[in-house]
Amino acid sequence: ALGGGAVLDAVGYACATFHRGMRLIRIPSTVLAQNDAGIGVKNGINAFGQKNLLGAFYPACAVINDFQLLTTLAHRDRIAGLAEAVKVALIKDRAFFEWMEREADALAHFDHPASRYAIRRCAELHLGHITGAGDPFERGNGRPLDYGHWAAHKLENLSQHRLRHGEAVAVGMALDGLYANALGLLSDADSERVISLLLRLGFNLCPPELSLKDAHGRSRVLLGLEEFRQHLGGQLSIPMLSCIGTSVDLHEIDDALMEQALLRLVSQRAPLTLGEGCAQ
Ligand SMILES: NC(=O)c1ccc[n+]([C@@H]2O[C@H](COP(=O)([O-])OP(=O)(O)OC[C@H]3O[C@@H](n4cnc5c(N)ncnc54)[C@H](O)[C@@H]3O)[C@@H](O)[C@H]2O)c1
Ligand SMILES: [Zn+2]
Repeated sequence: ALGGGAVLDAVGYACATFHRGMRLIRIPSTVLAQNDAGIGVKNGINAFGQKNLLGAFYPACAVINDFQLLTTLAHRDRIAGLAEAVKVALIKDRAFFEWMEREADALAHFDHPASRYAIRRCAELHLGHITGAGDPFERGNGRPLDYGHWAAHKLENLSQHRLRHGEAVAVGMALDGLYANALGLLSDADSERVISLLLRLGFNLCPPELSLKDAHGRSRVLLGLEEFRQHLGGQLSIPMLSCIGTSVDLHEIDDALMEQALLRLVSQRAPLTLGEGCAQ
């Protein structure tokens, strides 16, 4: 399978089912595919209006990351994949996060040495988690690698996939950072650093989908929490940051507080340290 995350997922799923499984070699061709999707054991396709509804856990027998493939990528796709590097740094590796802060300008310009290191470190951390955390097939509820993903999956869907996965993950991480801050779990300084790094890398943290309401006036993004609970099989488990580099699982989310976090992200009151508002 040679391609971005979408192609790898579809081909991986086909490989898992055809003749009850055939050998798979992945050659990821986007930043996100090289640092995350191509490394993992999950393969999924969207069906019946739901993200990753059909799929299989199916490891590849080899993954070949060739940086040269990334030189033809659109700028947008060079940046989108960095969201997963920020994610894994936030939940596992404070030093990597601090390195990304120092190299933010180089990463935003896709300078090769910095980008190459970010992809490699992100891939290593993903691989380390899958092979070393004792739950490669996600039997348990705790999924730190899903940081920022409950909102991201909903946003991708609401945008009818206008938003790239990484772009949606960046928004989801900012939202959950503000929620953890409102809860008193994450300090003001750390939540501002999360948002500041995402902005410096070039992410738009206020896509119009954040403001969509249903017929009852409820935020459509927040309805994603209930969908995520169902996806987990009943008990909610959402990774949240207690500080940069460490996550904890929360099993309850205060809807009113999450709505406040959402409003803070959408409104000018968010601590957007670069002086940028949230104009859409
Ligand atoms: N299975 C997993 O563990 C896992 C993990 C993360 C993300 N994903 C999935 O991966 C998908 C996102 O992956 P993505 O960000 O790679 O997006 P993508 O696969 O949609 O690719 C983005 C764009 O880049 C183009 N492209 C790919 N390689 C290129 C190259 N070398 N040069 C120029 N253009 C190129 C593609 O045609 C596409 O238009 C989402 O569907 C997401 O759910 C899966
Ligand atoms: Zn992801």
